[in-house]
Amino acid sequence: MKYYFTTPIYYVNAAPHIGHTYTTLAADTIKRFKRQQGFEPVLTTGTDEHGQKVERSAEAAGRTPQVFADMVSAEFRRQWDALGLEYDHYIRTTDPRHHKTVQWLFERCLKNGYAYKGSYTGAYCVSDERYVNEVEPGQNCPDCGRPTESVTEENYFFKLSAFTERLLELYEREPDFIRPEARRNEVLSFVRQGLQDLSISRSNLKWGIPLPVEGNQVFYVWFDALTSYITAIAGDNPPGELWPADLHLVGKEILRFHAVFWPAFLMAADLPLPKRIFAHGWLLFDNEKMSKSRGNMLRAEPIQKVLGFDALRYYLLREITFGQDGSFSYDALITRYNADLANGLGNLASRTLTMVNQYRAGVVPATFDEAIGTVAKQAVEATVAHFDALEFSRGLEALWSLLSAVDKFIVEQAPWKLARSADADAAPRLDATLGTAAEALRLACILLYPVMPESAGKIWAQLGMTTPLEAARHTDLAWGHYPGGQKIGDIVGVFPRIDAKPAIEKIVALEEEVNAAQAQLLGKKVEAAPEDAVAPPSPKIEIDDFVKVDLRVGVVLSAEPVKGADKLLHLKVDIAEPEPRTIVAGIAGAYAPAALVGRKVVIVANLQPRKLRGIQSNGMIVAGSLEGGKPVLAGFLEDIPIGARLK
Ligand code: MSP
Repeated sequence: MKYYFTTPIYYVNAAPHIGHTYTTLAADTIKRFKRQQGFEPVLTTGTDEHGQKVERSAEAAGRTPQVFADMVSAEFRRQWDALGLEYDHYIRTTDPRHHKTVQWLFERCLKNGYAYKGSYTGAYCVSDERYVNEVEPGQNCPDCGRPTESVTEENYFFKLSAFTERLLELYEREPDFIRPEARRNEVLSFVRQGLQDLSISRSNLKWGIPLPVEGNQVFYVWFDALTSYITAIAGDNPPGELWPADLHLVGKEILRFHAVFWPAFLMAADLPLPKRIFAHGWLLFDNEKMSKSRGNMLRAEPIQKVLGFDALRYYLLREITFGQDGSFSYDALITRYNADLANGLGNLASRTLTMVNQYRAGVVPATFDEAIGTVAKQAVEATVAHFDALEFSRGLEALWSLLSAVDKFIVEQAPWKLARSADADAAPRLDATLGTAAEALRLACILLYPVMPESAGKIWAQLGMTTPLEAARHTDLAWGHYPGGQKIGDIVGVFPRIDAKPAIEKIVALEEEVNAAQAQLLGKKVEAAPEDAVAPPSPKIEIDDFVKVDLRVGVVLSAEPVKGADKLLHLKVDIAEPEPRTIVAGIAGAYAPAALVGRKVVIVANLQPRKLRGIQSNGMIVAGSLEGGKPVLAGFLEDIPIGARLK
């Protein structure tokens, strides 16, 4: 069975931060969990690229909105890929296919009499991109607190007022349509006050999708953005087979758009409604919502580099009740890591496997304790039920209760004594102790896979499992199914203990590097070249001369400074050859190593190797620069496969 769900499509006015990552990693977790349940989950994410906010950010960066949107959208995508987040569709609202869907939806509303031409004079909030009836122009927006501007416009309006009753009926009929309950109540009281018609076009804006009926009007960004959930899966024939969505996952500040406007648009167009809208809370840093405007953003990649991305996934889903706000803190992150992962799960795994090696020559005995089996059954049921309700924190808590029960069981059984005992029942008890611990770990890996896919996979392999963990399903969660007689894999610590202070210092230093690199990428005006710095034209060449140069697309796997050489970076670049290329590049003055990892670059692949500072460089990275200026790496606006040749 299909399960179609979405994250919000993110604005391209800022580079991704942990707030965006939070939603996307929760969606990735749901996707993996749904697959284990036997669904075929389809996830859409992407970027929301029109509107005044983006137009203004692009202008501040000295770029056209399209170029700016291309860059930021690519950065979101690069980041999701670098973090290993899974999604099926990446929709961009500047995609021409999307323009058609938005116009199609509007025409259906128009035909059914729910769109009409009218005019508005009053306050407008650029940040929320909405008309604010409640205040006078110049006063602060009641939602975001920023000053409003004055506008007078002729627009198309959507007859939202006609949907007050129908929406209330919907919320009544489908009590789970809006989750969690507290958020549902907020929406109910908002709609009960009665809804006003909504302007769905803008004449003061150029950067948007044109209305099919008025030459100089574009769609209101929310009419445009919400429709992307259909475009992503519709092909040429909206709404497409996967519609309606089973779930829209959103942050609480955009719940109203999803739970009020969106179902009303769909009702007006006679289209099926999504099944559920789930609003999660905000990630706070220093007690404020993490956001670009507050300048208190953190990125996921520095944490990924120091602790692994799984540690961040686990921390966010365990520490914060999904649906409520939660404070992010490095101290709490490391405390959770050390307590739950290093001392808890990691320790249980390495202890168990070491004993299997020591006492049973690396072969797990297939005998299992009944009492722990009962505990496991309850823990499995509770974890699955909580995850299914998106109560990740409670689900993980239930799972950890099993790990603690197994820890206690091992201490009680004292396998180190059983191994030396001459009692008749010592050997079978030792078997059962080791088998039980390994079996509990097997179940833990399956349950943990949606939250920590990489780490769970490592433990799974160490348990000697030969089928891939991603292929495990909930039907494999029955107690006592550990395949007997198989040899365990090599034991490697999955969560080494972390010393908080140096780890935090390292993350903070990397954060600074990444922030600086992002600011350079997105924030700086493009400076015009001074005339004398532009290189004179080179002599003409034949095409045969050009094709001698083997230019390839590669992706940077790692980047490190070269000792004693300020300008050089030591890169490993994957160009789809069996081994990554080692390349030494003189770009350290322009790029922080952390900002390069995961980035697609162009490589001259057939240069004679050359030794630089004792490192053999096998190729050159292509960058543009003016005489004496900083190098700027060549890259691509569209996605391109690694190894592709430039010609
Ligand atoms: N473009 C709109 C959404 C259109 S959906 C049809 C938008 N974009 S946004 O870039 O501002 O992203 C908002 C979403 O990012 C939030 O709803 C949430 O999912 C995520 N988050 C951004 N900052 C966040 C926090 N500080 N904390 C939690 N989630 C956050 O709104």
